[in-house]
Amino acid sequence: MSNRPFDLDHSGPVTPASGVDQRAAMQSVYTDPAALAAEQSQIFDQDWVMVGRAGAIPNEGDYFTASVGKRPIIVMRQADGSVKAMANFCLHRYAKLLDGSGCAKRIVCPYHFWTYDMAGTLIGVTDRHGFDRDEIKGKTLEPLACDVWMGFVFVSLRQDLAPLSERLGRLTPHVEAFDLDQYEDRVVVHEEVWQGNWKLIFENFIESYHTTYTHKGSIGPTNPTNLAEFGPLDERNFSIHSNSYRPEDYPENHNPKLTEAETKRFYVIALYPNGLVALDPNFAWWISLEPREVGVTNARWGLCYSPHAMKGMADPTAFVEAIRETIVIATEEDKEMVGRVQDGSAFGSHNPGMLHAPLEIYLKEFKEYVEQQLATNG
Ligand code: FES
Ligand SMILES: [Fe+2]
Repeated sequence: MSNRPFDLDHSGPVTPASGVDQRAAMQSVYTDPAALAAEQSQIFDQDWVMVGRAGAIPNEGDYFTASVGKRPIIVMRQADGSVKAMANFCLHRYAKLLDGSGCAKRIVCPYHFWTYDMAGTLIGVTDRHGFDRDEIKGKTLEPLACDVWMGFVFVSLRQDLAPLSERLGRLTPHVEAFDLDQYEDRVVVHEEVWQGNWKLIFENFIESYHTTYTHKGSIGPTNPTNLAEFGPLDERNFSIHSNSYRPEDYPENHNPKLTEAETKRFYVIALYPNGLVALDPNFAWWISLEPREVGVTNARWGLCYSPHAMKGMADPTAFVEAIRETIVIATEEDKEMVGRVQDGSAFGSHNPGMLHAPLEIYLKEFKEYVEQQLATNG
């Protein structure tokens, strides 16, 4: 018996207990600007938000920019090796300081050249005679809470949240044998704009119902809907299921720590509210969602590869590229369907859709998470 239970049996029809809500969210939650405004302040401003990978910024001064909900941030590798997050605006007149990713030992504001060190401390003010000396002394860019789980960087506006090790403690046993924190970051795409509400993208990833039908040109044949497997139910911060491989497509495995079952699975992990990770023995595909408008979302994404696979495969470079090509196709397939749901939701019907039990069970759980955050922080 594995000590990593992954055993919700859905091989037969599932009849939910009476009273279980199997309705989809109402159309308006995907189209109403007021709904997004509430989610920005009561979810994205109140919880840990996934922004990217620590492995993408390995050296002192390496940084990437991202958004926590709508708020621009900088994540920067410090001299002591830690990863620090801060607000991405200048203390003078609020100009955004950095874009994309890069390496900088100093942050110089492009507007009037105020200068900050890597930790965000203001160290240089041009024409400083015009400023009150005491006012500018010791100022720092607004610091944000930052934590790393399995190589994924999370940022929060709140400083009082439980650390990720605690919050995701029951998820960790499912994935720790993969050495995900050591997966090598090879691809990062900062801008991938979807014409859909952020929740639609999240919901698309946490159900295996669409895989066979939507992904005919990518993962549908190899990871069909009827091989889906499910992890634990009723978790408040995450979900995990698997779009498992059919036997003729079992991936090569070079990681001796994985169980036989784990070598055949393509896990899909949802880290509420905005992080998605698809994980197999050889690579991981991650996405962090940044809502821009109620129907427009940036889905920053990347690919990282198992160090075991990179050592063990005959042609690792070709493998990296083959996976990238498949994921690009899968993304386009998902993008089209999310856009269609967004377009259909414009009707504004008051009749809710239906959820498949159990293939869409985690949509129900995510909906409960959203409703609970809105109720608790409203
Ligand atoms: S806004 Fe940055 S120096 Fe003026
Ligand atoms: Fe998909």
